[in-house]
Amino acid sequence: MNTTFRFIVLEGIDGSGTTTQLECLAKLLRADGNAVVTTSEPTPGPVGRLLRQALEGSLSPDVDGCSQFDWVTLALLFAADRANHAQSLIVPTLAQGKVLLCDRYDLSSRIYQSVTAADPEAALPWLCILNERVPRPDLTLVLDIEPELAEKRRSTRGAPPELFEQNQLQRKLARAYCEAEKYVPNDRLKHIPGELSISEVTERLYAACQSGVG
Ligand code: TMP
Repeated sequence: MNTTFRFIVLEGIDGSGTTTQLECLAKLLRADGNAVVTTSEPTPGPVGRLLRQALEGSLSPDVDGCSQFDWVTLALLFAADRANHAQSLIVPTLAQGKVLLCDRYDLSSRIYQSVTAADPEAALPWLCILNERVPRPDLTLVLDIEPELAEKRRSTRGAPPELFEQNQLQRKLARAYCEAEKYVPNDRLKHIPGELSISEVTERLYAACQSGVG
C-alpha cells in the first residue's frame, strides 16, 4: 500500500538505530511500489563534511588553537547544512512525488543543540528560527531507547566516541526525546520502542507510515 506521507524523518539518541532502520524501512516501502530516496544529516556535502570532522574531533587547529566549535557555531553549521540539503535534494525529491526518508533533521538540532546550550530554554526559540526556512516533515518517527542499551550498542561498533557520545549527556538527550513533541509542537510525531529486535522496529515504523493511508 502506498504511504501518503512523503517526507519522513527518523530520530533518536546515538545508538538508537536510526541509521540501520533507514534502509530497512526503505526496503519495505519500496516493496509496496513507493519510489523512495534515503538521505541523512549531517550530509556528505561541504558543510556536512566539516561537521563530521567536528563530531570526530578531527578539525585542524588554526594558529590560535581554535579546533572546537561551541554549540552556537554547531547550530549555525547544522542549519546551513540543512538549508543546502533542502535546496539540493529535499525540495527537488518531494517535487517529483517521491518518498524521502531522512536519518535526522531539525529535531536533532532543536534537541542536541539546546540540551548542550548554557540555557536550553532560551536556546530553543532561536534554534526554531534558525531552521524555519526548510520544509517541515510529514511524519517524524522517534526511536525511544534506554540510554544504557544505546551505549552498549555504540560500544560494539568499536569506533572512538564522537562529540556527543558521553553517557551522562545521552541520558539527558534520551529524556528530551521522550518529550520530543515539546520541541516540534506543530509536527506529526510518533514514538517507537527502539529496544525491540531490528525487524520488529522496522514493522512498527512501517505501520506508522501506513497510518496516514485510507
Ligand atoms: P549520526 O551519525 O549518529 O547521525 O551522528 C550525527 C551526530 O550529530 C549525532 O550525535 C547527533 C548530532 N546532530 C546534532 O547535534 N544536530 C543536528 O542537527 C544533527 C543533524 C545531528
